[in-house]
Amino acid sequence: MPPAAVLLWAGLVAGSTVLVTSAPLLVSSLSVWSSGPPQGLATFIPFQRVFTKRGSMTVWRAPGRINLVGEHTDYNDGFVLPFALEVGCTAVVDTAPAGSDGWTVRSAQQPEPVVVRRSGLSSAPDVPEWSRYVLGALWLLTDRGVDVPALDIVVDSDVPTGAGLSSSAALVCSVARALDDHLDLGLDDDALFALTRDVENDAVGAPTGGMDQLVSLRGEAGHALFCDMRSHETRSVPLDLAAHGLTVLVTDTRAPHKHSDGEYGARRRGCEEAARLLGVPALRDVAAGDLDDALRRLDDDELRRYVRHVVTEDERVLSVVRLLDEGRLPEIGPALTASHVSMRDDFRITVPEVDTAVDALHEAGALGARMTGGGFGGCVIGLLPDESVGAAGDAVRAAFADAGFGEPSLFTAAPAPGARAVSPGTRGN
Ligand code: GLA
Repeated sequence: MPPAAVLLWAGLVAGSTVLVTSAPLLVSSLSVWSSGPPQGLATFIPFQRVFTKRGSMTVWRAPGRINLVGEHTDYNDGFVLPFALEVGCTAVVDTAPAGSDGWTVRSAQQPEPVVVRRSGLSSAPDVPEWSRYVLGALWLLTDRGVDVPALDIVVDSDVPTGAGLSSSAALVCSVARALDDHLDLGLDDDALFALTRDVENDAVGAPTGGMDQLVSLRGEAGHALFCDMRSHETRSVPLDLAAHGLTVLVTDTRAPHKHSDGEYGARRRGCEEAARLLGVPALRDVAAGDLDDALRRLDDDELRRYVRHVVTEDERVLSVVRLLDEGRLPEIGPALTASHVSMRDDFRITVPEVDTAVDALHEAGALGARMTGGGFGGCVIGLLPDESVGAAGDAVRAAFADAGFGEPSLFTAAPAPGARAVSPGTRGN
């Protein structure tokens, strides 16, 4: 019997025949850059002509993420401490049938394939946003000199969308790793990271900071990933929840979450403006000991609050990393909670649903709790003794019902591996 992914693949191909002949999204151009062609790849991709054989499918799976601590610090060149999740996206890349000059992208979660011709590269095509995460990688590679052949790509994700768990990073990282493998590009860790980040920033136009892609590519089971977002050096830090009798309980508040809208960009611009006024390359360069002085030098209260959040958040990441390195996992709770308070009161990116969840988790015995991700909704994490998890879930549900919010979704999370090749025939989970 054919294995599952082959069936998925065959099913999608068969199912899409009608769609392709009836109303395919056929696009004949490549110019999609929202802010001019990205420059980052020129140095590491020499011109390549690649030949691949039809039928040798390459399958990679890349995960979504939870950020343990370090929010809105990545685009300030600071520190973050996320971990990869079990949920993820599986990308299947195959060479297109002979005679095809197109890139065909299908998603198990989308009704229609998107077909793009490799020739005719003149005007900006209008493709659905989800497909830009896939096509963006192809466009970016082409732009940097890779002669990408006609391909059939299928993606299938079980990361909830709009929950702040980086379904987009899972998508782009699974595709990038599969392309690198299928086309034998030999991209190293830095090049893969640059490719995935540039797809999101330049092809999709979301001004995100790179944390999500880094952990989706490099996460390790049983560990959080300590990332220096200036050098992009990373180090796995032990996060052995089971050994300490602890659980990370995730509440998806289902409050609408969208960080490519104005608020995320406004925070980013505000931080950059504050750094400029303070005469530093990025807010990472304001030392904790100089914070009061820096705040005195700023007139704008909004910018002062941004600076206070970012500088103290970097310190919280460093303190949590120290505790984890010393095997003192149960002691990280206060730093997680302080991070939430800073996001709520200084950075002002929380909403009533996430604040309600955090309060309920504390009342139910959480050692610490905070919103995770870009903000304005999405998920909350609580660090709980194993025996309190059931009651904490009930407490969150009850608090939501009392407040008249919709039913939240609750699940537990533990650090899983980052992007990995999976044999055709499995989804890798
Ligand atoms: C989103 C972005 C990340 C990061 C977080 C906030 O998830 O994609 O780059 O900025 O928000 O920490």
